[in-house]
Amino acid sequence: MANRLEGKVALVTGGSAGIGAECCKAFAAEGAKVVAGDMRPLTYEADGVEYMQLNVTDTENCKTVVDAIVAKYGKVDILVNNAGITRDALIQKMTDEMWDAVIAVNLKGVFNMTRLVGPLMMENGYGSIISISSVVGEYGNTGQTNYAATKAGVIGMTKTWAKEFARKGANVRANAIAPGYVMTDILKTVPQDLLDKFKGLTMLGRLGQPEEIAKAALFLASDDASYVTGHVLSVNGGMRL
Ligand SMILES: NC(=O)c1ccc[n+]([C@@H]2O[C@H](COP(=O)([O-])OP(=O)(O)OC[C@H]3O[C@@H](n4cnc5c(N)ncnc54)[C@H](O)[C@@H]3O)[C@@H](O)[C@H]2O)c1
Repeated sequence: MANRLEGKVALVTGGSAGIGAECCKAFAAEGAKVVAGDMRPLTYEADGVEYMQLNVTDTENCKTVVDAIVAKYGKVDILVNNAGITRDALIQKMTDEMWDAVIAVNLKGVFNMTRLVGPLMMENGYGSIISISSVVGEYGNTGQTNYAATKAGVIGMTKTWAKEFARKGANVRANAIAPGYVMTDILKTVPQDLLDKFKGLTMLGRLGQPEEIAKAALFLASDDASYVTGHVLSVNGGMRL
């Protein structure tokens, strides 16, 4: 354990489980005060991590949570836009409900949070915004029209924010992480034969662990990445879809 995030305040959406949970634990271990915003309670306990109920699709709720963090800690230094869902189907079988649900969480939710937190960071003159994209947003994937649209959209928004939030000399960086296939609940609906195929598509010959994404997020969150912005960091074992 080191203190790379001493004095920093972090908000991680979808921080109760999976990749978000590992980001929360990694940031807290480096000295940050971490708020895990999620619809469901924490699936773990960690010193320095507190839970706030958050639905990123609910604009009012997003504002309530950000206001509560600012009231308690006075600022947000690190935002991880991590909450995400899948509703997979080939496009001819993709319903309006499946399209709308994924857009609402993965795209509008990221917009909702950053619209609130980005300007606060600019006012403070400091911040790191990390949004979780996907290998699917870079290369596309059969059965994931909705998900691919959101994850490619996250890359476009990230590059825009790297420009918008660094204006007026503000030291606010915006980056995306594009994970490959990582062993979390989100893969529960993916058949084993497909997971084996994805494993075979990586140079390292294995799927990822959520801790490996959290380490990349920690780098981007910290001043180790002080000259990194507008970047998409692929953390995928050398995968090409
Ligand atoms: N696991 C992978 O293979 C993989 C690969 C690439 C990208 N990602 C992305 O990483 C992120 C995290 O995924 P994960 O694998 O940890 O999934 P997960 O299902 O384990 O965790 C997602 C968390 O987000 C929360 N969440 C869902 N909807 C929410 C909402 N509206 N408001 C607040 N919280 C909400 C869930 O309750 C859950 O705790 C997602 O954006 C996902 O698309 C995952």
